[in-house]
Amino acid sequence: MSDSAPYGFETLQIHAGARPDPVTGARQTPIYQTTGYVFRDADHAAALFNLQEVGYIYSRLTNPTIAVLQERIATLEGGVGAVCCSSGHAAQIMALFPLMAPGRNVVASTRLYGGTLTQFSQTIKRFGWSATFVDFDDIEAVKAAIDDDTRAVFCESVSNPGGYVTDIPSIAAITDAAGIPLIVDNTSATPYLCNPIAQGATLVVHSTTKYLTGNGTVMGGCVVDSGKFDWSANDKFPSLSEPEPAYHGLKFHETFGELAFTFHGIAIGLRDLGMTLNPQAAHYTLMGIETLSLRMARHVENAKTVAEWLEADPRVDYVTYAGLASSQYADRVKALYPKGAGALFTFAVKGGYDACVKLVDELELFSHVANLGDTRSLIIHSASTTHRQLSEEQQIAAGAAPNVVRLSIGIETAADLIADLDQALAAATA
Ligand SMILES: Cc1ncc(COP(=O)(O)O)c(C=O)c1O
Repeated sequence: MSDSAPYGFETLQIHAGARPDPVTGARQTPIYQTTGYVFRDADHAAALFNLQEVGYIYSRLTNPTIAVLQERIATLEGGVGAVCCSSGHAAQIMALFPLMAPGRNVVASTRLYGGTLTQFSQTIKRFGWSATFVDFDDIEAVKAAIDDDTRAVFCESVSNPGGYVTDIPSIAAITDAAGIPLIVDNTSATPYLCNPIAQGATLVVHSTTKYLTGNGTVMGGCVVDSGKFDWSANDKFPSLSEPEPAYHGLKFHETFGELAFTFHGIAIGLRDLGMTLNPQAAHYTLMGIETLSLRMARHVENAKTVAEWLEADPRVDYVTYAGLASSQYADRVKALYPKGAGALFTFAVKGGYDACVKLVDELELFSHVANLGDTRSLIIHSASTTHRQLSEEQQIAAGAAPNVVRLSIGIETAADLIADLDQALAAATA
């Protein structure tokens, strides 16, 4: 498709990155199920390995099916390039890897997916990295947490599990002033509901496992680069600005300009960390993205209906959905998330931990699943599952207190979802 035409989101979600197969004319993107690619001759092979020519070498680094997915997600997010990888968690490491070094830290929101809280508070310590967690609604606290060793700031646009919405432009103003990249996990909002790059983010990460694929079939992740950050402004990001010994002293930023982060992600990240996506998974995710706008609009509509019903129910203490008129985030949603606040939220059940566990067991249509972003409605009791490794204080800070359950609202008939919640709440609070 033409690069110059100002196509709409619905067109780009189907066409961006894809063109009919030049050999067969296949209209759908083929699954290039191959590990290797035949070089034209020895000179061609040498040029590819030297990064003097762009092409396919080995599917740990690049694959034509995955390349279409990368271009499609980059286009929808308004980035210059993207690197897909094996999971959302892999994407987070892929995003941090070029930025961090032993002794460096990332300033992160307290309101993150529980697995990310564990990855940042525990696992990255083994690389000599650390994380400082702050409440991202407290802008001054975010500013104060950045020190000379900070190399990234990290938050979720719509946070898992609470569905709270982040004021990305205000956070971006702080990271811009500090000369630090802002990484936004846009998994729960998707580019249909939020464009972090347009709001000032440097990098966007995704668990494509969720809404982008949309039906709970395959794992995947993606890092999108805005192309806007000046990696050579100072000596903080030597992996991108200084000579790379693994490529004969090539300087990624000097050589690839706005594509430096993307090339580094493929040439160093995928090559050496090996967190590669497989082409079958890329195919499923491409299929999912074709209907993203339709699904997200329906997810949002259903989430609003269910959240409003729960809010009015006497068996429920509170509902965190930012799309409710009563939410403290209502103005922020209107300004920054005009198409809706997603379909992920928690509610507190009168009766606490025991009632939550019973509720989960009593539901028939909702599936008790450690996933989100499926066409099916899902429920989980975060405190006893995804956020189980955290202290009660951390669970509360993350929006996963023992008395709340998380819903990922699907695209079924809303009245059926309400009827299921009604019967399960009756049993759980009897
Ligand atoms: C917001 C968010 N980011 C990242 C991840 C990690 O993604 P994955 O499970 O694909 O590794 C999850 C998983 O639930 C998530 O909810």
